[in-house]
Amino acid sequence: MKPVRIAENIYWVGAIDWDLRDFHGYTTERGSTYNSYLILDKEPTLIDTVKHYKFDEMLSRIKQVIEPKNIRHIVSNHVEMDHSGSIPMLLDIAEDADVVTCPQGERGLKNHFFKDIKYRVVKSGDSLDMGENKIIFQQTPMVHWPDNMVSYLENHRILFSNDSFGQHFASIERFDDEVSQDEVITQAKKYYANIVLPYSQQVSAALDVLKNLKIETICPSHGIIWRKSIGEILKEYSKWSSNEVGKKGVVVYDTMWGSTQKMALAIYEAFEDSGYKATLCNLKNWHMSDAMTEIIDAEYVAVGSPTLNRRMLPSVSGFLTYLSGLAPKNRKGIAFGSYGWGGESVKDVEDVLAKAGFQITASFKHQFVLKEEALVEMKNKLKGVIS
Ligand code: FEO
Repeated sequence: MKPVRIAENIYWVGAIDWDLRDFHGYTTERGSTYNSYLILDKEPTLIDTVKHYKFDEMLSRIKQVIEPKNIRHIVSNHVEMDHSGSIPMLLDIAEDADVVTCPQGERGLKNHFFKDIKYRVVKSGDSLDMGENKIIFQQTPMVHWPDNMVSYLENHRILFSNDSFGQHFASIERFDDEVSQDEVITQAKKYYANIVLPYSQQVSAALDVLKNLKIETICPSHGIIWRKSIGEILKEYSKWSSNEVGKKGVVVYDTMWGSTQKMALAIYEAFEDSGYKATLCNLKNWHMSDAMTEIIDAEYVAVGSPTLNRRMLPSVSGFLTYLSGLAPKNRKGIAFGSYGWGGESVKDVEDVLAKAGFQITASFKHQFVLKEEALVEMKNKLKGVIS
């Protein structure tokens, strides 16, 4: 449980959550980290803390660098408890410390921790002088809560970006040049698709501000620190936040007796035949958060469900609720499904997709089992729509 030196007098003192497999409904197959950063100076400052049950791990790392009671400032870039959860316990030790946060942060912290805390409230452009080092704050509301802000350490050109640029990725390594680039970008993509996507407009605004800063290191509050691939992750964020999509179709479905699955496969093949990349996500085996990661760069999303008791299957309805909340923009939708009688599910899927802003480009329903000719007809019709 060693601290990790980031730069002269700056240390990572966070915690690694190897066991985490769910983060409010998103599967975290690689676990996560809660990154806390300590700046040694005349007024020692800690940037963010860790989840409450990881307090001892963070404290043990801090103790190897400094006497924790000497911390003078705790910067809270974000109220969500994976970053603020240990503030009250740390304040019991660092009794003279104040908590540096924006006005929304102060309100949020007061509503979480009913404790007498000394706040230092800052806004965009305000700074904190610690002696040799100075932090400049920038509010980034809604990336991911109204209280989010980032902290820029001017002399070291380090951006403490909190949730932005994070990944749920537990690793003994701390830097992007020590791990697989594919894996870290994949985890950043999953994080964006499942956490940040609804706030893409605000991300674009934040990126506009950040491009005026000289950044040599990005220290997010989850996962790996960026010091090699800063250009790449900024480029990916710009793409994801502008809802830029490629020639790709994602087919998400569940099935009862195999007919909706046959339709899903026909749609998948129509994408392939039309020169599109395609992904087939059977919700019996795919978690919806992984399907969302596929959707982040897809032009088409096809959603299929058979009809059960005049409704779509609960697995599909759960997925559509999740998808609607994450609100991807500029996507085309396709609804499909088989039925025995009634066949309400397809119209229901279509309605949810349309309400979520998808442009419905095709809809297919079929009674009972599909013969080969019906599948070929469906495929050809779709190929006409796609190309
Ligand atoms: Fe990592 Fe929005 O908290």
